[in-house]
Amino acid sequence: MPTITETATTSPIGRQTPRIDGPFKVSGAAMYASDFNFPGLLYGVPVEATIANGKLHKLDTSEAEKMPGVRAILHRANIGKIFRSVLQPPNSGIADERRPPLADDIIRYYGQYIAVAVADTFEIAKAAADAVRATFTKDKPNVNLDLQPENEPETVETTHGRLKRLQSERGDPDKAFASAQVKIDQTYVTPAETHNPIELQGTIAIWDGQMLTIYEESQGIFNLRSVLAQMFGLPKENVRVITKFVGSGFGSKLWPWTHCALACAAARQLGKPVKVVLSRRMMFQSVGHRPRTQQHVRLGATNEGKLESLMQDYLNDLDILGGYHENCGEATSYFYSVPNLRVHWGRTRRNIGSPTPMRGPGAVPGLFATESAMNELADQLKIDPVRLRELNEPKIDEGKGIPFSSRHYLECLQLGGERFGWANRNPEVGSMKRDGLILGWGISGAAWISGRFPAQASVELRDDGSARVACGTQDIGTGTYTILAQLVSDKTGVPLNKIEVVLGDTSLPPGPISGGSLVTGSMVPAVFDAADNAIISLLTVATTESGSPFGNRTRDDLAFESGRVFAKADGPTKGVPFSDLLRSTNMRLVTGSGKSEGTLDEKKPKVSMHSYGCHFVEVTWQPAIARLRVNRVVTVIDGGRIINPLAGRNQIEGAVVMGVGMALLEHTIYDPQNGAPINSNLADYLMSVNADAPLMEVHFLNYPDTDVNPLGARGIGEIGLAGVAAAITAATYHATGVRVRELPIRIEDLLTSSILT
Ligand code: MOS
Repeated sequence: MPTITETATTSPIGRQTPRIDGPFKVSGAAMYASDFNFPGLLYGVPVEATIANGKLHKLDTSEAEKMPGVRAILHRANIGKIFRSVLQPPNSGIADERRPPLADDIIRYYGQYIAVAVADTFEIAKAAADAVRATFTKDKPNVNLDLQPENEPETVETTHGRLKRLQSERGDPDKAFASAQVKIDQTYVTPAETHNPIELQGTIAIWDGQMLTIYEESQGIFNLRSVLAQMFGLPKENVRVITKFVGSGFGSKLWPWTHCALACAAARQLGKPVKVVLSRRMMFQSVGHRPRTQQHVRLGATNEGKLESLMQDYLNDLDILGGYHENCGEATSYFYSVPNLRVHWGRTRRNIGSPTPMRGPGAVPGLFATESAMNELADQLKIDPVRLRELNEPKIDEGKGIPFSSRHYLECLQLGGERFGWANRNPEVGSMKRDGLILGWGISGAAWISGRFPAQASVELRDDGSARVACGTQDIGTGTYTILAQLVSDKTGVPLNKIEVVLGDTSLPPGPISGGSLVTGSMVPAVFDAADNAIISLLTVATTESGSPFGNRTRDDLAFESGRVFAKADGPTKGVPFSDLLRSTNMRLVTGSGKSEGTLDEKKPKVSMHSYGCHFVEVTWQPAIARLRVNRVVTVIDGGRIINPLAGRNQIEGAVVMGVGMALLEHTIYDPQNGAPINSNLADYLMSVNADAPLMEVHFLNYPDTDVNPLGARGIGEIGLAGVAAAITAATYHATGVRVRELPIRIEDLLTSSILT
């Protein structure tokens, strides 16, 4: 089995590499969007609806307007035109909440903006927003937790275009289920969850004539530009979006939200820069969340454990106007071999803000359901859940009928089992004990998409021996700055500390969204192409410019390796560092542009590209005080070649900790009276913290997937969360005898445990 070994060369690919942006962050030098300041900057604070369903009857701004330091209370009648935007396939114009802010007087969710107070300071703006009096015509909000599908046609509009609700089908799953020897027929529920990046969302908007500049903590600056250009009736060249650092996002910052348009419109009306930063409460209301899902899963199998039928019918809730679809069936059609399968979905509208992708959207709640069902099937069959998965390993992607690019799922399970000590498992409920605690063991598989978004980059080599790489993608904290430096260092031999990485600006070559765990995979070929072109440019300089020691050579005579230009005939030791060559020819720099195509929109893909993994979980159960803890997690990830194992392991560990929260804690609760998310703060919305973190062991298989890019690197930002909750509920069943199918696991659920000693 391949393991990560540091190569003897100078290339940092595969080497544990601390973040190059780390010192900026820990010293406070990193500028996050709302850190910027400008002369004359005004502060905007949105005014929120305090009902979730009804109509804005009257807005009384008189008291607020009189407050000293208040510049304006802007609302529908005086904020100026904000146009609608539409989807612009393939990759722009995307927004989950499409309605422009203040577009009408109808209130459809709690916290919908009805005005924005703008003042000289944040404190005055906040006081003014609080002083605005709004009266509403109220209807009862519908935040009902029981999801029934809307009466929608079989093909529906979604945020990303038209989709069929029949997601995948093969064979005759109903018939195969009816005649199956062993059956599982259960419904699994995951609650609304809210992203809680530490950096709050916010916008600074600056107009200069017809030019609009935005500082925003965006996971997708080019998409944001395309939406804003439409909303303000500008050519996209007139809009610039800058995102230098992002204090994480988990998906909530992928697509534009209404506060951004409010800031732009306010800045336009007042002729001054305007900064709007949301409160933590607003982060629960108006910038997305993972929707509630309800998934009916049916498995039919033989007595030996071979799957014969798999049906998944799933629902997610969404806002009144939006098109969000939580793709819970993402991993279903290809994960296991099963001749008869159907995946079908529906949606249910509620008086809530729009859902949006949250780390591992679709696959994470989807795998909670399907992997839980697999675990229940294994228990019913009395076979080892690892063995059940081995029995159903597919040879190809049976959903698409194409081979896998690189799939080592069984090896993940095998290695995970060895590292965890799975062979010592006694499957009987409540039978395993240690130090007076009851142990529960459980497992789950994990999968996530792979591939590339279109990407461009530029690479410069400079006369001081340094290099610069630029791309309009973002680093949301996952390590993109560092990865790009590693790629350039690998190609050019320039050490990491002499590489400047420039990201997060729409004036740079277009880059991918920081989403789908796809940035690294997308950037490899674009940066390599750019570096190759910079080197070609360098060799051209070497053969054409006066002052070069290679004036009598042709370009084909020359080579570039580890930062040196040399004649192939003489070898690298006789060559010169590229900095010398540039100085001797009086060149400050050479530059190369690079580009790579996306894979996700391929009509007929030849291979099925995904990452795989598994989690082995140990919980401890202390029945006397009904205390359940996740004690130990062994995770194995088949994520292609790992470029930075340090940042990579960090991603997986963070995801596992998030998975503990998903299984035990996270849950956004909507008040049935007024529709407000009532635990809308970091005290009442529980997430796992350091004290909840289990002992974690992370292994990467490190098989390069060269269908994705020349290095074989896939993404690893999301897969670590997939499956964790299913492994925890399986371990919980093993310890307590209680089967929890609705997350999060609550203490009340466990009080029914018969395992009391
Ligand atoms: Mo991720 S939910 O694609 O930011």
